[in-house]
Amino acid sequence: MTDSTVNYRNMGPEESKIFTFPTTELLAQMLAEKVLNMVRQSIISGRNFNIALSGGSTPRVLFEHIARDYRDPGIWDNSRFYWVDERCVPPDHPESNYRMAREALLRYLSHSYDNVFRIMGEEDPHREAERYGRLLMDQIPLTEGVPAFDLILLGIGRDGHTASIFPDQMELLWTDSPCAVAIHPDSGQRRITLSGRVINNADLVFFLVTGEEKADVVARIICKTGGFEEYPAAHIRPLYGILSWFLDDGAARLVNTMQNPGGSRG
Ligand code: 6PG
Repeated sequence: MTDSTVNYRNMGPEESKIFTFPTTELLAQMLAEKVLNMVRQSIISGRNFNIALSGGSTPRVLFEHIARDYRDPGIWDNSRFYWVDERCVPPDHPESNYRMAREALLRYLSHSYDNVFRIMGEEDPHREAERYGRLLMDQIPLTEGVPAFDLILLGIGRDGHTASIFPDQMELLWTDSPCAVAIHPDSGQRRITLSGRVINNADLVFFLVTGEEKADVVARIICKTGGFEEYPAAHIRPLYGILSWFLDDGAARLVNTMQNPGGSRG
């Protein structure tokens, strides 16, 4: 499998890695293999693998790859599925992040739904944010008193939001609560989101980004140019873990240009 790994100085203490692929399919295939290797390692070490999934449309291709190639019984027995964020809608609503994950992934994995901990979008948002926060504090190992996931999968919006932390709600990056209520700036839709503190406490944070429409925001954040600090995603800097970007060539299109204005591939 061809991929090009280019190390850039990360915004935080750890260097981040950027994996770019000519197609979304190749990206999803490699990322699925990476996730399964981590799951297998956790089985060998006899511990749970706690993963938090993002919603939106991008993760679907990864979920479909995992569902197709890694549905064998037993693989997922020690994995526990959580969400990065959820829209405040019922679980069977077309916009539900849980519904997308269930349709594209979870229903194919031979494991009980006892390992699946959805955010209940149908409940009162503030009460549910508190409930989910308590659940994370109870179930996820803590580092410095903050839940520490093994892996958090993130997407990014063209406005630089990630999870449901939008540019006009930057305070959600640093709130002490593990979860918070957010409001989509355009639709007004309420959402429940992990805080930036929880995201930055994870062992591994993967940004999965595809499509040319994301190229500008991705390049500004990776190359730290053009007001990048205004983007919530630019503040995803794992304190103890590693940040990796998984980009198709469309999303990576401007990274090299901004990194090397002279035009040579770094
Ligand atoms: C959500 C996601 C959100 C998403 C970005 C990108 O609930 O929508 O958590 O942060 O990752 O908006 O969405 P796309 O993958 O649809 O471009």
